[in-house]
Amino acid sequence: MLLVKTLLSAVALLLTGVGRAQAQLDPLPLPTTCSGVPAMRYANTLASGWNVVKVAGNLRGVRTIVWDPLGQMLVSESGKGISVHTFGANGCINSSSTLIALGQLNHGLAITPDGKTLYASTERMAYQWAYDPATRKVSGQKTVVNGMVSGIHSTRNLLVVPSKPNMVLLQTGSTSNLDQQASNMASGRAIIKIFDMDKVPANGYSYNTGGEVVAYGLRNEIGFITDPNGMLWGVENSGDDFRRTVNGQAKDIHQNNPAEKLNYFGDPLTTRNAWYGYPTCFSVWDKSAFTDNTALKTGSHFVLSPSSSYKDADCDKTAVAPRLTFMAHSAPIWNAFDANATNMYVTFHGSWDRQPPTGFKVVQIPFTKKSDGSYDPVAAADSTQGYNDIFSAQNPAGCTANGLTMSNCFRLTAASWDPRGRGLFVGSDNSAEGEIYLLSKK
Ligand SMILES: *[C@@H]1O[C@H](CO)[C@@H](O)[C@H](O)[C@H]1NC(C)=O
Ligand SMILES: *[C@@H]1O[C@H](CO)[C@@H](O)[C@H](O)[C@H]1NC(C)=O
Repeated sequence: MLLVKTLLSAVALLLTGVGRAQAQLDPLPLPTTCSGVPAMRYANTLASGWNVVKVAGNLRGVRTIVWDPLGQMLVSESGKGISVHTFGANGCINSSSTLIALGQLNHGLAITPDGKTLYASTERMAYQWAYDPATRKVSGQKTVVNGMVSGIHSTRNLLVVPSKPNMVLLQTGSTSNLDQQASNMASGRAIIKIFDMDKVPANGYSYNTGGEVVAYGLRNEIGFITDPNGMLWGVENSGDDFRRTVNGQAKDIHQNNPAEKLNYFGDPLTTRNAWYGYPTCFSVWDKSAFTDNTALKTGSHFVLSPSSSYKDADCDKTAVAPRLTFMAHSAPIWNAFDANATNMYVTFHGSWDRQPPTGFKVVQIPFTKKSDGSYDPVAAADSTQGYNDIFSAQNPAGCTANGLTMSNCFRLTAASWDPRGRGLFVGSDNSAEGEIYLLSKK
């Protein structure tokens, strides 16, 4: 009986481990260098206790990294398509090929836990393919969602729900900095929707009218992932150039506000129509900018023009507050858990709307497993110390951010924990060179 129980719990562990069939992969060594890969392009700083090795270079716009059940790495390269990479016995990449050549693909990439179905997105569409990990080939491209809006935020993140792989999450950002139409769910903007891929209509779902709303009021929830319990966590890019108007007096607050956000959504199969505040309610990073309301703390909601009819505190009645916040203008792109969700990692793409610039780094958010079995950041919601830098541009204050992908520093994007447990794979979409690094603990 005991043996049966142990076996059953081992099976349960395999199944719950974020649906990772990869748990059985043979280990690979951690290389110190990978021959044939160009040197790291940008000067960087590592936290003590961490190593970095560049595993791929000369890629195009790396945005998202996912893994098939054979431990092969699939990479969405914005402007090019999807590539697939195998690993040799030395732990480095030993073959790379183009899996899908489609220049409009620009970020979103997801794979079912059985490795047989891929999804990828363009600004306006999401597609599905049958995938064969053994041959590293796709077939049968099918439009599953169409009609997404066009605007300043063009990426549409995708995620397959691990426990129910026919259910797929697909996000859009706002079409402008303060997109008033996004307050209406039917606009299909600044929203995460969920679609049943077992019931796709002939020409695909229309984004705005199909599927169900998980959450809205999310200016640009560009990355999201589930924890080992299947609960959804995402990172949100908040607004630029903000001024706060109190009694007719406008004050520039953009340097250190609003906060970027780590949002908790709960179970994506059951959370519906949750409102996260945009375009009305934002989150404080630096409370010292709010001299008119000293009750505000880091992570508190605020409005741009408080009035007797709608005050900062009114947000708390209807908007879900972030679980943790990040420095204004960090531009978080992707989040990833390590194997046991001991930490979450977030890549910061870096800022243009702040002097000196910030971001251009990977941060680690310590997590804890609470007595009820849920995962949660260690830091309180009002903390500015909830995360630490593990890999940064050597001089973030000297990093330029011209356009979305140009800089004299890396522009960090993808984050994905190695299914073989060696560490965190991180991508850069700097237009000079798409790179992938493997960060590991010494
Ligand atoms: C890559 O390495 C793996 C593992 O050693 C091996 O099975 C495979 O044949 C290699 N592929 C290429 C293209 O060298
Ligand atoms: C994570 O889980 C694995 C297997 O369940 C275990 O061997 C390992 O020690 C854990 N690591 C940490 C940091 O808790």
